[in-house]
Amino acid sequence: MLPANFELQTVRDFLRWIISRLGESSLFYGHGTDNAQDEAWYLVCGALHLPFDLDARLLDSVLTAQEREQLFALVERRINERVPVAYLVGEAWFAGLPFYVDERVLVPRSPIAELIEQAYQPWLGDEPAQILDLCTGSGCIGIASAFAFPYAQVVLSDISEDALVVARSNILRHGVQERVTAQFSDLFADLAGQQFDLIVSNPPYVDADDLAKMPAEFHAEPPLGLGSGSDGLDITRRILMQAADHLTDGGLLVVEVGNSGAALDQRYPHLPLTWLEFEHGGHGVFVMSKDDLLASQSMIRSSL
Ligand SMILES: C[S@@+](CC[C@H](N)C(=O)[O-])C[C@H]1O[C@@H](n2cnc3c(N)ncnc32)[C@H](O)[C@@H]1O
Repeated sequence: MLPANFELQTVRDFLRWIISRLGESSLFYGHGTDNAQDEAWYLVCGALHLPFDLDARLLDSVLTAQEREQLFALVERRINERVPVAYLVGEAWFAGLPFYVDERVLVPRSPIAELIEQAYQPWLGDEPAQILDLCTGSGCIGIASAFAFPYAQVVLSDISEDALVVARSNILRHGVQERVTAQFSDLFADLAGQQFDLIVSNPPYVDADDLAKMPAEFHAEPPLGLGSGSDGLDITRRILMQAADHLTDGGLLVVEVGNSGAALDQRYPHLPLTWLEFEHGGHGVFVMSKDDLLASQSMIRSSL
């Protein structure tokens, strides 16, 4: 509830006030922004349905009473409940595209966005005809990949029916329902007989130590999207063991494991993983060809 003597009137007033409120609170940034100023801009533009490249003259427009109430309430939730702005405004941007998000899916932030914007070059040979986004959450990786490859058929799969509801809403939002479908599957278990030229996955990969230390903002996200056993690699091990069976000849596997990359290298030093570098930040993403997966299959099965 807005205090009776609340003086703020304009977009500019609110931006300044929100930056100060965020700045005086011990918040974690990492769900789309990395500082109070960008976070305030995201919240104000997202909540008021204003473009991020707002004409500066609009900064001095006066908000309605309802808009002032709304912004005040959202700022309170961001600070007191530590809810990421993406959930408060129901939208996150990924690879230049907007996605509907809520607490049923992780907030999109994978560095794989950069790889998609480069059409997976130089790692992918021919244009993929069949793509799988394994552990899809909001569907951001698969849908952005569908835009990168306008002739590809894309399957988005997840073990969470709740996440699939969100992914389907994003399929419709982007009008790609002719080429993109969402399917329930526990990793590859419900994808029997299906093969893909590209399998891309940002699975859960947080190890137990990191999980215990995560800032409160992460507790707003679905636990199924984060933890993956003591070393963070439970899901990745299963992907490595099964992916070759679902790749076409010449196919490519792309997996994000974040901080658990060090554990993967340490425990399985002979795996022929190629770690990617990103211009805009992020780490812990590897690619592996079907040929390499097959060549190391016995090693993978015995050592994983
Ligand atoms: C880290 S989130 C990634 C979501 C999305 N790909 C992104 O980048 O924002 C991981 C997702 O994996 C899903 N998941 C967890 N275990 C799974 C499993 N065994 N099979 C399929 N999906 C799983 C979770 O429901 C969650 O949506």
